[in-house]
Amino acid sequence: MSTTFNLDTSTSRANPTPSPMKRLTVPAIQRRKFEGKTEEPLVMLTAYTARQAQLLDAHCDILLVGDSLGQVIYGLPSTLPVTLEMMCAHGAAVVRGSYHSLVVVDMPFGSYEQGPQQAFESASRIMAETGCAAVKLEGGAVMAETIAFLTKRGIPVMAHVGLTPQAVNALGGYAARGRSQEEHEKIISDGKAIADAGAFAVVVEGVVEPIAIALTQSIEIPTIGIGASAQCDGQVLVTEDMLGMFERVPRFVKRYEDIATTISKAAETYAQEVRARSFPGKEQTYQPK
Ligand code: KIV
Repeated sequence: MSTTFNLDTSTSRANPTPSPMKRLTVPAIQRRKFEGKTEEPLVMLTAYTARQAQLLDAHCDILLVGDSLGQVIYGLPSTLPVTLEMMCAHGAAVVRGSYHSLVVVDMPFGSYEQGPQQAFESASRIMAETGCAAVKLEGGAVMAETIAFLTKRGIPVMAHVGLTPQAVNALGGYAARGRSQEEHEKIISDGKAIADAGAFAVVVEGVVEPIAIALTQSIEIPTIGIGASAQCDGQVLVTEDMLGMFERVPRFVKRYEDIATTISKAAETYAQEVRARSFPGKEQTYQPK
């Protein structure tokens, strides 16, 4: 990627975009699914910090500032205590650290469920404070009215159906959804309802594979799977999960690295060197000239 900064007046007068990268747009993401098919699956990863965004940006189509940051960054027991302030702070950092991917920011629990007006206030704040291009919210048919309200007012919405972590208490845990015929039908009708309401894409999380395939084939908007199916129009993982940051590995996660061991080993070596007074060495200290 070129490091020459050209002022890109087609996207912004204020923020120079490094040539040749140009940020993907919501319509461009939607166009990747044409006549029910997605030639090149959409690549989405979570990002919570500017540096993480810089490293992931060139490889992704979408960076999701997920409310999973509650557990991953803040050590919270679930996503429920995550606040709008947290989402805005991390969302802004990820926008600052990226130039290419579409940045989507999660709407936290309690910031949109009351109704379309509350959702508009929260979503417009997220967009104004972060510079992101879209928000994501959880829920199916019950959220259709809110999704229609937001999209008609210029706020692109990514929906999220199947296993919806903000509903962990109502669902009774994080087990895969769709094992009964009733659940199967509900997930499909939820997906159709949010697509009809104007969502530009939908995350399909933790569902038995035939549901993910059926939903992908029955709606025009891209489905982005996590614990769903390779037949979805795209995939998302929590970056720290795929990097091997945590001991617990959910079934749907593939670990591409073992970053926890790398960090732990580096800290162990540093601690040994500090205790042995071999760090800092000559190279890391300032000597009189
Ligand atoms: O919060 C999050 O990271 C998410 C993804 C798992 C889809 O919603």
